[in-house]
Amino acid sequence: MSYLYPDLDDEHRLAGLGHSGFILHIIPDFLLQLQPMTDITERLTRFTTPEQRELIHLIAREANRLGMHAYLVGGFVRDLLLGRMVNDFDIVVVGNAITLCRSLVKKYGGRLTPHILFKTATWFLPETFAGHPRVWDLTSARLETYARPAALPTVTLGTLHDDLRRRDFTINAMALCLDSDCFGVLIDPLGGRADLEHGLIRVIHPRSFIDDPTRLFRAVRYAVRYGFRLAPETAALIPDALPYVDDLSPERLRHELDLIFEEGQPTRILERLFALGILQSIYPPLPSSKADLARLRRIRFPSQATSSSETPDLPLHEARWIAWLMALPTKEIRAIARRLHFTADLKKKVLAASSIFHNLDAMGGWTPSLCTAWLEGFPDQAIQVVSLCLPAVKARDCLKNYLEQWKTVRPLTNGETLKALGLPPGPLYKEWLWQLRAAWLDGAISTAAEEEMLLHKLIEERRQKHGDTNDLQSERM
Ligand code: CTP
Repeated sequence: MSYLYPDLDDEHRLAGLGHSGFILHIIPDFLLQLQPMTDITERLTRFTTPEQRELIHLIAREANRLGMHAYLVGGFVRDLLLGRMVNDFDIVVVGNAITLCRSLVKKYGGRLTPHILFKTATWFLPETFAGHPRVWDLTSARLETYARPAALPTVTLGTLHDDLRRRDFTINAMALCLDSDCFGVLIDPLGGRADLEHGLIRVIHPRSFIDDPTRLFRAVRYAVRYGFRLAPETAALIPDALPYVDDLSPERLRHELDLIFEEGQPTRILERLFALGILQSIYPPLPSSKADLARLRRIRFPSQATSSSETPDLPLHEARWIAWLMALPTKEIRAIARRLHFTADLKKKVLAASSIFHNLDAMGGWTPSLCTAWLEGFPDQAIQVVSLCLPAVKARDCLKNYLEQWKTVRPLTNGETLKALGLPPGPLYKEWLWQLRAAWLDGAISTAAEEEMLLHKLIEERRQKHGDTNDLQSERM
């Protein structure tokens, strides 16, 4: 390996940079792409706010002062090159990010959370930075090794090149130099920009999917998000990695699926995951029919909805979990909840949606009071998701009416009224109040006078049944 500019300091030389701000040389085993600074700096200005840029410069300056080099990496660089708005700043320093973060806290205030194992640190900015992004994750350039497939990696400090090579795909393995002498220069040793231009998702080394099978999900997620293809050599590696999906922890697997459910086209992603056999390797009965996947499309981003009733009142990924699994029988939902460590709350909502879903045919013929009595046992959010997933059928009207009107319908009579009538508190209160409420719901009564008449009728029926008048002071009505 030979360098055209032997006078560069080590780190820049390894990264293939010159002080002119251009990548300097093309060498066979270390192919770097050249990007003029103006192109990237112009994009940085267009796709970031002045406050974000101020912080980037401030962090880079402090890193340089400590003798470290700072870079923006990963999704930030990918999305910047694709011309997408970027909010997720992934900063890597060659050196110890925890040391840098301590120094920033000392100088500018705020607090830090170090993550010793992964050699990263989070800087929470102080109040004085109002208007600026308040949380910054700083990462040390690192080398990762995997003790066994699907295990979390062992991390040691490394060079920028080590750090780029440890990553999932070439399009996520580019860096932008933040040092003052090369600000805005793209460092692309693995051909990420060319793959971006050709729309290709390509792993960096053949063991990538086996080391970290979450990358199987990530590959398909990026492919669908950007309309890209898997490079043929990358697709060919998938079958050998499938057995290792089972070794992933429930949390890591669920996280990958949560991320898919936050995407614009989750249905398409799941279809592709099925086609590649990836989803089945989590748990074979996971739903894959057209109808099961089509339901996901009905749960839209808030920005796509035309009215607030079209968006569920819970995080998008939770709503989509419910939409996806609701047609499964209880036993399978419980098994999936166990495999993926669902929270008790999510499990409860999916099970509720499943009960509602499997009773929709019957519900179409029920009275409003019967629907209300039954639906009151379920969380509103589960009812809402089932309702969003249904075409315009009678059962959907029941769900919508329940959420929008029926659940709040109450008679004018309450416990105090009954007490004032001399009725001793007991189960009869609940029964009569429900009968009055049901009469309102079913349209049997619609005025205060009609309610009063019905209550008199109930009192009279009871009087006749029990033959006593003492405990009811009906004259007070
Ligand atoms: N990464 C990786 N292997 C993983 C997860 C992440 O190599 N299993 C690397 C990639 O270089 C990725 C970076 O870590 O770009 C940050 O990961 P993440 O925040 O999950 O992804 P982004 O690239 O920010 O993409 P997005 O959030 O848009 O999906």
